[in-house]
Amino acid sequence: MSVQARYWRLNARPEGHDYAGALSLETRALGAPKPGEVIVKAEYLSMDPGVRVWMTAREDSYSPPIPLGAPMQGQFIGTVVESAADGFAAGDTVRGFGQWADHSLVDATMSGLSKLDPDVRDVRDHFGALGLNGWTALCGLRDVLNLQGGETVLVSAAAGATGSVACQIARNMGCTVIGIAGSDAKCAYLTGTLGIARAINYKREDVAAALARIEGGINVYFENVGGALLDAALPNMAMYGRIGICGLIEGYTSDSGLPGPARFDQILMKRLTVSGIFLPDFMMKGIDYYPPLKQWYDAGKLRLDFDETRGLENVLVAFTRLMTGQNTGKVIVDIR
Ligand SMILES: NC(=O)c1ccc[n+]([C@@H]2O[C@H](COP(=O)([O-])OP(=O)(O)OC[C@H]3O[C@@H](n4cnc5c(N)ncnc54)[C@H](OP(=O)(O)O)[C@@H]3O)[C@@H](O)[C@H]2O)c1
Repeated sequence: MSVQARYWRLNARPEGHDYAGALSLETRALGAPKPGEVIVKAEYLSMDPGVRVWMTAREDSYSPPIPLGAPMQGQFIGTVVESAADGFAAGDTVRGFGQWADHSLVDATMSGLSKLDPDVRDVRDHFGALGLNGWTALCGLRDVLNLQGGETVLVSAAAGATGSVACQIARNMGCTVIGIAGSDAKCAYLTGTLGIARAINYKREDVAAALARIEGGINVYFENVGGALLDAALPNMAMYGRIGICGLIEGYTSDSGLPGPARFDQILMKRLTVSGIFLPDFMMKGIDYYPPLKQWYDAGKLRLDFDETRGLENVLVAFTRLMTGQNTGKVIVDIR
Protein backbone atom coordinates (compact mmCIF):
# COMPACT_ATOMS: atom_id res chain seq x y z
CA MET A 1 0.00 0.00 0.00
CA SER A 2 1.43 3.43 -0.89
CA VAL A 3 0.78 6.17 1.66
CA GLN A 4 0.98 9.87 0.80
CA ALA A 5 2.43 11.85 3.71
CA ARG A 6 2.02 15.59 4.24
CA TYR A 7 5.06 16.80 6.16
CA TRP A 8 6.90 19.97 7.18
CA ARG A 9 10.24 20.35 5.37
CA LEU A 10 13.13 22.45 6.68
CA ASN A 11 14.31 24.55 3.74
CA ALA A 12 16.55 27.09 5.51
CA ARG A 13 17.93 27.87 8.98
CA PRO A 14 15.25 30.14 10.54
CA GLU A 15 16.03 33.72 11.57
CA GLY A 16 14.66 34.23 15.09
CA HIS A 17 11.04 33.09 15.09
CA ASP A 18 10.45 33.42 11.32
CA TYR A 19 9.45 29.78 10.87
CA ALA A 20 7.20 30.44 7.86
CA GLY A 21 10.25 31.72 5.97
CA ALA A 22 12.20 28.52 6.63
CA LEU A 23 9.71 25.64 6.44
CA SER A 24 7.06 24.49 3.97
CA LEU A 25 4.29 21.91 4.00
CA GLU A 26 5.00 19.26 1.35
CA THR A 27 3.70 15.89 0.19
CA ARG A 28 5.65 12.72 -0.51
CA ALA A 29 4.96 9.03 -1.02
CA LEU A 30 6.19 6.72 1.73
CA GLY A 31 7.60 3.37 0.65
CA ALA A 32 6.45 0.11 2.14
CA PRO A 33 7.94 -0.53 5.59
CA LYS A 34 11.09 -2.66 5.56
CA PRO A 35 11.68 -5.25 8.31
CA GLY A 36 11.69 -3.41 11.67
CA GLU A 37 9.74 -0.42 10.30
CA VAL A 38 6.15 0.78 10.65
CA ILE A 39 3.96 3.51 9.15
CA VAL A 40 2.08 5.51 11.76
CA LYS A 41 -0.85 7.83 11.15
CA ALA A 42 -0.30 10.63 13.65
CA GLU A 43 -3.18 12.01 15.70
CA TYR A 44 -1.22 14.44 17.86
CA LEU A 45 2.17 16.09 17.42
CA SER A 46 4.25 17.32 20.34
CA MET A 47 6.01 20.68 20.10
CA ASP A 48 9.36 20.64 21.91
CA PRO A 49 11.83 23.55 22.22
CA GLY A 50 14.92 21.35 21.73
CA VAL A 51 13.88 20.99 18.08
CA ARG A 52 14.70 24.69 17.64
CA VAL A 53 18.39 23.94 18.32
CA TRP A 54 18.41 21.26 15.61
CA MET A 55 17.06 23.86 13.15
CA THR A 56 20.30 25.85 13.59
CA ALA A 57 23.66 24.89 12.07
CA ARG A 58 25.17 24.21 15.52
CA GLU A 59 27.50 21.21 15.49
CA ASP A 60 28.23 21.41 19.26
CA SER A 61 24.73 20.48 20.43
CA TYR A 62 23.63 17.09 21.78
CA SER A 63 21.97 16.37 18.44
CA PRO A 64 23.22 17.18 14.92
CA PRO A 65 21.48 19.84 12.80
CA ILE A 66 18.52 18.66 10.72
CA PRO A 67 19.79 18.68 7.11
CA LEU A 68 18.21 21.30 4.87
CA GLY A 69 15.55 19.70 2.68
CA ALA A 70 14.76 17.05 5.29
CA PRO A 71 11.48 16.61 7.18
CA MET A 72 11.21 18.26 10.60
CA GLN A 73 11.52 15.80 13.43
CA GLY A 74 9.29 15.43 16.47
CA GLN A 75 7.19 13.19 18.66
CA PHE A 76 3.81 11.81 17.64
CA ILE A 77 0.96 9.85 19.16
CA GLY A 78 -0.94 7.88 16.56
CA THR A 79 -2.08 4.57 15.13
CA VAL A 80 -0.02 2.00 13.27
CA VAL A 81 -1.41 1.60 9.75
CA GLU A 82 1.19 -0.83 8.39
CA SER A 83 3.81 -2.84 10.25
CA ALA A 84 6.86 -4.91 9.38
CA ALA A 85 8.17 -4.71 12.96
CA ASP A 86 7.85 -7.45 15.55
CA GLY A 87 5.47 -6.54 18.36
CA PHE A 88 3.48 -3.94 16.39
CA ALA A 89 0.34 -4.45 14.34
CA ALA A 90 -2.06 -2.23 12.40
CA GLY A 91 -4.45 -0.59 14.85
CA ASP A 92 -1.96 -0.25 17.77
CA THR A 93 -1.97 3.13 19.51
CA VAL A 94 1.65 4.22 19.83
CA ARG A 95 3.99 7.06 20.73
CA GLY A 96 7.32 7.59 19.00
CA PHE A 97 9.77 9.95 17.43
CA GLY A 98 9.11 10.66 13.77
CA GLN A 99 8.31 13.69 11.66
CA TRP A 100 6.05 16.74 11.80
CA ALA A 101 3.74 14.85 9.44
CA ASP A 102 0.36 13.20 9.18
CA HIS A 103 2.10 9.89 8.40
CA SER A 104 5.61 8.86 9.52
CA LEU A 105 7.62 5.87 8.29
CA VAL A 106 9.86 4.95 11.23
CA ASP A 107 12.18 2.28 12.48
CA ALA A 108 10.41 0.94 15.59
CA THR A 109 13.61 0.71 17.67
CA MET A 110 15.29 3.94 16.57
CA SER A 111 12.09 5.94 17.02
CA GLY A 112 11.50 4.59 20.54
CA LEU A 113 8.10 3.35 19.39
CA SER A 114 5.97 2.14 22.28
CA LYS A 115 2.42 0.90 22.69
CA LEU A 116 0.45 3.05 25.08
CA ASP A 117 -1.16 2.05 28.35
CA PRO A 118 -4.92 2.28 27.62
CA ASP A 119 -5.62 2.89 31.32
CA VAL A 120 -5.06 6.63 30.94
CA ARG A 121 -8.03 9.01 30.80
CA ASP A 122 -6.56 11.21 28.04
CA VAL A 123 -4.19 9.76 25.43
CA ARG A 124 -2.46 13.17 25.15
CA ASP A 125 -1.07 12.66 28.67
CA HIS A 126 1.35 10.15 27.15
CA PHE A 127 3.23 13.17 25.76
CA GLY A 128 3.29 15.23 28.93
CA ALA A 129 2.67 14.16 32.51
CA LEU A 130 3.25 10.48 31.63
CA GLY A 131 5.68 10.98 28.75
CA LEU A 132 8.78 12.95 27.82
CA ASN A 133 8.08 15.95 30.07
CA GLY A 134 7.15 13.86 33.11
CA TRP A 135 10.12 11.56 32.65
CA THR A 136 12.49 14.52 32.24
CA ALA A 137 11.21 16.24 35.36
CA LEU A 138 11.40 13.07 37.46
CA CYS A 139 14.78 12.04 36.08
CA GLY A 140 16.15 15.53 36.74
CA LEU A 141 14.81 15.98 40.25
CA ARG A 142 15.23 12.44 41.53
CA ASP A 143 18.16 10.88 39.66
CA VAL A 144 20.31 13.90 38.79
CA LEU A 145 19.56 16.35 41.61
CA ASN A 146 18.81 13.81 44.37
CA LEU A 147 15.92 15.93 45.64
CA GLN A 148 14.98 15.40 49.30
CA GLY A 149 11.67 16.20 50.98
CA GLY A 150 11.69 19.52 52.85
CA GLU A 151 14.11 21.25 50.45
CA THR A 152 13.44 24.58 48.74
CA VAL A 153 13.17 24.14 44.98
CA LEU A 154 13.20 26.78 42.26
CA VAL A 155 11.85 26.00 38.75
CA SER A 156 12.08 28.27 35.68
CA ALA A 157 9.60 28.13 32.77
CA ALA A 158 7.48 26.78 35.62
CA ALA A 159 4.11 27.07 33.85
CA GLY A 160 5.36 25.19 30.79
CA ALA A 161 5.23 21.44 30.18
CA THR A 162 8.40 20.21 31.90
CA GLY A 163 8.43 22.98 34.49
CA SER A 164 4.85 22.47 35.66
CA VAL A 165 5.44 18.75 36.13
CA ALA A 166 8.71 19.48 37.98
CA CYS A 167 6.81 21.86 40.29
CA GLN A 168 4.21 19.20 41.10
CA ILE A 169 6.74 16.41 41.68
CA ALA A 170 8.69 18.62 44.10
CA ARG A 171 5.43 19.66 45.79
CA ASN A 172 4.37 16.00 46.06
CA MET A 173 7.74 15.19 47.65
CA GLY A 174 7.11 17.72 50.41
CA CYS A 175 9.34 20.52 49.12
CA THR A 176 8.73 24.27 49.17
CA VAL A 177 8.41 25.15 45.48
CA ILE A 178 8.99 28.52 43.85
CA GLY A 179 8.21 28.95 40.17
CA ILE A 180 9.36 31.58 37.69
CA ALA A 181 7.04 32.39 34.75
CA GLY A 182 6.36 35.18 32.28
CA SER A 183 2.89 36.51 33.19
CA ASP A 184 0.63 37.18 36.17
CA ALA A 185 -1.89 34.66 34.78
CA LYS A 186 0.79 31.94 34.71
CA CYS A 187 1.85 32.84 38.26
CA ALA A 188 -1.77 32.61 39.45
CA TYR A 189 -2.02 29.19 37.76
CA LEU A 190 1.12 28.02 39.57
CA THR A 191 0.05 29.09 43.06
CA GLY A 192 -3.67 28.45 42.55
CA THR A 193 -4.18 25.40 40.33
CA LEU A 194 -0.84 23.73 41.03
CA GLY A 195 -0.62 24.83 44.65
CA ILE A 196 3.06 25.78 44.84
CA ALA A 197 4.29 28.18 47.50
CA ARG A 198 5.28 31.21 45.41
CA ALA A 199 5.52 32.32 41.79
CA ILE A 200 7.62 35.16 40.37
CA ASN A 201 6.75 36.98 37.15
CA TYR A 202 10.21 37.63 35.70
CA LYS A 203 8.82 40.16 33.21
CA ARG A 204 7.52 42.38 36.01
CA GLU A 205 9.47 41.58 39.18
CA ASP A 206 13.12 41.83 40.17
CA VAL A 207 13.82 38.08 40.32
CA ALA A 208 17.11 38.36 42.24
CA ALA A 209 15.48 40.58 44.88
CA ALA A 210 12.51 38.21 45.22
CA LEU A 211 14.83 35.21 45.59
CA ALA A 212 16.96 37.02 48.17
CA ARG A 213 13.93 37.02 50.48
CA ILE A 214 13.79 33.20 50.58
CA GLU A 215 14.92 32.14 54.02
CA GLY A 216 17.76 29.61 53.89
CA GLY A 217 18.26 30.01 50.13
CA ILE A 218 17.48 27.65 47.27
CA ASN A 219 18.61 24.06 47.68
CA VAL A 220 17.73 22.88 44.17
CA TYR A 221 17.27 24.88 40.96
CA PHE A 222 15.61 23.10 38.00
CA GLU A 223 16.72 25.35 35.15
CA ASN A 224 14.87 25.48 31.82
CA VAL A 225 15.87 28.93 30.59
CA GLY A 226 19.40 30.19 31.42
CA GLY A 227 20.67 33.75 30.89
CA ALA A 228 19.42 36.40 33.32
CA LEU A 229 17.38 33.90 35.37
CA LEU A 230 20.44 31.76 36.09
CA ASP A 231 22.31 34.91 37.12
CA ALA A 232 19.46 35.85 39.47
CA ALA A 233 19.45 32.37 41.05
CA LEU A 234 23.19 31.83 41.54
CA PRO A 235 23.78 34.30 44.42
CA ASN A 236 20.60 33.08 46.11
CA MET A 237 21.47 29.40 46.23
CA ALA A 238 21.95 27.75 49.62
CA MET A 239 25.39 26.38 50.54
CA TYR A 240 26.01 23.09 48.69
CA GLY A 241 22.96 23.74 46.51
CA ARG A 242 22.42 21.79 43.27
CA ILE A 243 21.52 23.21 39.87
CA GLY A 244 20.19 20.95 37.12
CA ILE A 245 20.42 22.43 33.63
CA CYS A 246 17.47 20.83 31.86
CA GLY A 247 17.12 23.49 29.16
CA LEU A 248 18.56 26.83 28.06
CA ILE A 249 15.72 28.08 25.88
CA GLU A 250 17.01 31.66 26.10
CA GLY A 251 19.76 30.66 23.64
CA TYR A 252 17.96 28.25 21.29
CA THR A 253 17.62 30.64 18.35
CA SER A 254 21.34 31.42 18.42
CA ASP A 255 23.97 29.71 16.28
CA SER A 256 26.55 30.12 19.01
CA GLY A 257 24.63 29.13 22.16
CA LEU A 258 24.53 30.98 25.47
CA PRO A 259 27.53 32.58 27.17
CA GLY A 260 28.29 31.36 30.71
CA PRO A 261 26.59 32.99 33.68
CA ALA A 262 27.99 36.31 34.93
CA ARG A 263 27.67 35.02 38.52
CA PHE A 264 29.83 31.95 37.83
CA ASP A 265 31.84 32.87 40.98
CA GLN A 266 28.93 31.71 43.15
CA ILE A 267 29.62 28.10 42.21
CA LEU A 268 32.78 28.36 44.30
CA MET A 269 31.46 30.70 46.98
CA LYS A 270 28.44 28.45 47.67
CA ARG A 271 30.16 25.15 46.74
CA LEU A 272 27.42 24.39 44.23
CA THR A 273 27.04 21.37 41.99
CA VAL A 274 25.86 22.08 38.43
CA SER A 275 24.70 19.12 36.30
CA GLY A 276 23.21 18.68 32.86
CA ILE A 277 19.92 16.78 32.66
CA PHE A 278 19.41 14.91 29.39
CA LEU A 279 16.54 12.47 29.28
CA PRO A 280 17.87 10.25 26.45
CA ASP A 281 20.78 9.27 28.77
CA PHE A 282 18.16 7.77 31.09
CA MET A 283 15.75 6.47 28.44
CA MET A 284 16.38 2.87 29.41
CA LYS A 285 14.86 3.84 32.78
CA GLY A 286 11.68 5.17 31.15
CA ILE A 287 9.93 2.09 32.35
CA ASP A 288 10.89 3.04 35.96
CA TYR A 289 9.61 6.58 35.61
CA TYR A 290 6.12 5.57 34.57
CA PRO A 291 4.80 3.94 37.81
CA PRO A 292 5.43 6.86 40.23
CA LEU A 293 4.09 9.38 37.70
CA LYS A 294 1.03 7.21 37.05
CA GLN A 295 0.41 6.85 40.79
CA TRP A 296 0.38 10.63 41.27
CA TYR A 297 -1.71 11.03 38.10
CA ASP A 298 -4.32 8.50 39.28
CA ALA A 299 -4.41 10.15 42.72
CA GLY A 300 -5.11 13.58 41.16
CA LYS A 301 -1.68 14.87 42.24
CA LEU A 302 -0.21 15.31 38.76
CA ARG A 303 -1.75 17.09 35.79
CA LEU A 304 -0.52 18.78 32.66
CA ASP A 305 -2.81 21.17 30.86
CA PHE A 306 -2.63 21.58 27.10
CA ASP A 307 -2.12 24.46 24.74
CA GLU A 308 -3.65 22.84 21.67
CA THR A 309 -3.71 24.00 18.06
CA ARG A 310 -5.73 22.20 15.39
CA GLY A 311 -4.50 21.10 11.96
CA LEU A 312 -1.18 20.07 10.43
CA GLU A 313 -1.20 23.31 8.43
CA ASN A 314 -1.05 25.22 11.75
CA VAL A 315 2.05 23.51 13.19
CA LEU A 316 4.11 26.69 12.85
CA VAL A 317 1.48 28.64 14.81
CA ALA A 318 1.80 26.12 17.64
CA PHE A 319 5.60 26.10 17.52
CA THR A 320 5.68 29.92 17.60
CA ARG A 321 3.38 29.91 20.65
CA LEU A 322 5.82 27.57 22.40
CA MET A 323 8.94 29.52 21.46
CA THR A 324 7.48 32.90 22.43
CA GLY A 325 6.10 31.86 25.81
CA GLN A 326 2.40 32.13 24.92
CA ASN A 327 1.65 28.68 26.31
CA THR A 328 0.58 27.45 29.73
CA GLY A 329 1.16 23.69 29.86
CA LYS A 330 2.06 21.41 26.99
CA VAL A 331 1.96 22.62 23.37
CA ILE A 332 0.50 20.04 21.01
CA VAL A 333 -1.13 19.93 17.60
CA ASP A 334 -4.29 17.91 17.04
CA ILE A 335 -4.13 16.61 13.47
CA ARG A 336 -6.94 14.03 13.65
N1 LIG B 1 17.17 17.89 28.68
C1 LIG B 1 16.09 17.21 28.34
O1 LIG B 1 16.12 15.98 28.22
C2 LIG B 1 14.83 17.98 28.06
C3 LIG B 1 13.62 17.33 27.76
C4 LIG B 1 12.46 18.12 27.59
C5 LIG B 1 12.55 19.50 27.68
N2 LIG B 1 13.77 20.07 27.95
C6 LIG B 1 13.90 21.52 28.10
O2 LIG B 1 12.98 21.98 29.05
C7 LIG B 1 12.63 23.33 28.75
C8 LIG B 1 11.10 23.45 28.71
O3 LIG B 1 10.62 22.67 27.63
P1 LIG B 1 9.06 22.40 27.48
O4 LIG B 1 8.86 21.48 26.36
O5 LIG B 1 8.53 22.04 28.80
O6 LIG B 1 8.54 23.83 27.02
P2 LIG B 1 7.57 24.82 27.81
O7 LIG B 1 8.17 25.10 29.14
O8 LIG B 1 6.20 24.31 27.76
O9 LIG B 1 7.63 26.13 26.92
C9 LIG B 1 8.76 26.93 26.89
C10 LIG B 1 8.63 28.06 27.92
O10 LIG B 1 9.88 28.66 28.15
C11 LIG B 1 9.65 29.93 28.73
N3 LIG B 1 10.70 30.89 28.37
C12 LIG B 1 11.45 31.57 29.24
N4 LIG B 1 12.34 32.32 28.59
C13 LIG B 1 12.15 32.13 27.27
C14 LIG B 1 12.77 32.64 26.11
N5 LIG B 1 13.79 33.50 26.15
N6 LIG B 1 12.30 32.23 24.92
C15 LIG B 1 11.28 31.36 24.85
N7 LIG B 1 10.66 30.82 25.93
C16 LIG B 1 11.10 31.22 27.14
C17 LIG B 1 8.28 30.39 28.24
O11 LIG B 1 7.44 30.63 29.36
P3 LIG B 1 7.65 31.88 30.34
O12 LIG B 1 8.31 32.97 29.57
O13 LIG B 1 6.29 32.21 30.81
O14 LIG B 1 8.49 31.35 31.45
C18 LIG B 1 7.74 29.21 27.44
O15 LIG B 1 6.39 28.96 27.71
C19 LIG B 1 13.28 23.68 27.43
O16 LIG B 1 14.48 24.39 27.70
C20 LIG B 1 13.58 22.32 26.84
O17 LIG B 1 14.65 22.34 25.93
C21 LIG B 1 14.89 19.34 28.13
